[in-house]
Amino acid sequence: MIELCRLTDLCDGEAKGFSVEGGTVSQRLVIIRIGSDIRAYINLCPHIGSRLDGEVGRFMNKGKPELLFCNSHAAYFRVEDGMCIDGPCEGQKLYPAAVILDGDKIVYTRSGVKVVDEISRVVSTTD
Ligand code: FES
Repeated sequence: MIELCRLTDLCDGEAKGFSVEGGTVSQRLVIIRIGSDIRAYINLCPHIGSRLDGEVGRFMNKGKPELLFCNSHAAYFRVEDGMCIDGPCEGQKLYPAAVILDGDKIVYTRSGVKVVDEISRVVSTTD
C-alpha cells in the first residue's frame, strides 16, 4: 500500500494524476474527488488506449467540467462510474484502479509499487 495524497489535497470535483510502478504493475492513475469521497481509474482510454490527459494532468474540458475528458478523440466519461457517454467509445467504461480512501488518505492498495514521475513500461490494466 502506498499513500498517493490526502483528500484535502484535492478540491471538490478536481482530478489529479499519478503514476505507479513496481513488480508487474505499471499504471497511470486519475483520482477525482467527489465531496468527501473519491473515484479512481486507470488513466487509459478504452477507445484505443491513449492516456486521457493529452496535456499532462488536465482531465477535464472547460465545456463540460463535470465529466472526465479524453483529449485524443474527444470522449466524455461520467466521474461516478467511468462510463463513456459521448465519443467514439460510448458505452465503454474506464478501468477501475486499486485505490481507496482511508480516512483522509488516498491509498493505492497494491504492494511493491512506488510513485514515479512517469512509467517506463506499457500500462497494465489489471491487478
Ligand atoms: S483514445 Fe480516447 S477517445 Fe480515442
